[in-house]
Amino acid sequence: MSETAQLILDGITYNLPIVEGTENEKAIDIAKLRDQTGYVTLDSGFKNTGATKSAITFLDGEKGILKYRGYGIEQLAEKSTFLEVAYLLIYGSLPNQTQIQDFQHQISRHTLVHEDMKKFFDGFPSKSHPMGQLSSLVCSLSAFYPESLDPQATKEEFDLTIIKLLAKMATIVSWIYKKSLGHPVIYPKNKLDYVTNFLNMTFGQRTEEVVIDDVVVDAMNKLLILHADHEQNCSASTVRIVGSSDCNLYASISAGCSALWGPLHGGANQAVIEMLEKIKNDGGDVDKWVNKAKDKNDTFRLMGFGHRVYKNFDPRAKIIKKACDDILEKLGINDPVLDIAKKLEEVALSDPYFVERKLYPNVDFYSGIIYRALGFPTEMFTVLFALGRLPGWIAQWKEMRENGDPIGRPRQIYVGENDREYVDISKR
Ligand code: CMC
Repeated sequence: MSETAQLILDGITYNLPIVEGTENEKAIDIAKLRDQTGYVTLDSGFKNTGATKSAITFLDGEKGILKYRGYGIEQLAEKSTFLEVAYLLIYGSLPNQTQIQDFQHQISRHTLVHEDMKKFFDGFPSKSHPMGQLSSLVCSLSAFYPESLDPQATKEEFDLTIIKLLAKMATIVSWIYKKSLGHPVIYPKNKLDYVTNFLNMTFGQRTEEVVIDDVVVDAMNKLLILHADHEQNCSASTVRIVGSSDCNLYASISAGCSALWGPLHGGANQAVIEMLEKIKNDGGDVDKWVNKAKDKNDTFRLMGFGHRVYKNFDPRAKIIKKACDDILEKLGINDPVLDIAKKLEEVALSDPYFVERKLYPNVDFYSGIIYRALGFPTEMFTVLFALGRLPGWIAQWKEMRENGDPIGRPRQIYVGENDREYVDISKR
């Protein structure tokens, strides 16, 4: 392989270094381009821009491969727990027995959230969107745990903030769910593992008894694992860029929550169910909606189809589709929107418009159906995505700091007005 790429500008040849990753991904390093040539690159939506070197997640969109720290997503979803995967993403290797016990123990010691936070949480209207609540509450943790604000904190202090965030996020998500029902919160039970404790705070009882079905715990572990990281997506890039200004972890993750909220990213799981409901209530004519999605004069898109990087299939969707069938069968649920979903999938996968553009069902097409089967209201779906994505965001933020990445600050090509003379308001 050649070690440089040649760029010819105004008759001058510039040699730009080639960088190769461990999975043979190749990049042209343009870090000195502007200094050497006066040019910048223009890449709206960063479709061709590698923003960093990262050792966390590898994905190959053409082949449908996703690995966390070298482990295939299929193995992790099958054999691991969410907490193990969180440890793997954040610290780089799978924990041994002592490490996972210690990790679990530390997290259980920090699951309570400062009671004063409840005061302003109570002020949110009960119908306000859970993602708005989540993003505000996560940012507010920085006010209640101000030791996180020091960018010069020691490694131990940073690690403690990470533990606190992992612990308190599950409690906060359960508060938001309880508020949507108008129910009182259930406090954490620290003898329980991470996922069971979360489910107990949402669907459990206030007594000592724990009545969470293993099938549900297993499905939740899988869902959280499948969402745990996805390299430099919109929200992870947001977390890294906010953190690159030395902003504290809570505020950086809160920004990630906001980025995730949009229906083109994590909000798609909510949008999928809303779309399926709409099609059902409209008489269930799937062809009509597929045609709408294909019509360039119609802004409607099939939610849960297509992906910026997967152009073959989404490996998470494959696993989740099976998990979806399993859980519906085990819980004995017969959901009419599932029939619409299956028909839609069938039509879209054989329609040339979708085939040519390589638009396959993505993870969000199925996750919403499982969340719904577990009993979560539609507006909670993206919050659950955020709970799953948290270890990935933390790992990305930590790596960015440890790499010593510079503050994120893209360039632009200015296309506005040139010099204009100020005109007094009386003369405009
Ligand atoms: N329905 C209909 N047409 C679509 C869809 C869709 N869902 N997605 C893409 N297209 C068409 C698009 O109109 C364009 O057609 P043409 O080439 O004729 O102009 C072509 O496919 C390429 O689309 P794009 O918008 O350039 O692709 P992108 O990489 O910028 O966008 C996407 C990717 C995920 C934003 C987009 O596919 C989409 O809006 N999907 C629906 C929302 C969704 O499900 N999002 C969740 C993504 S998975 C969760 C996550 O990881 O965040």
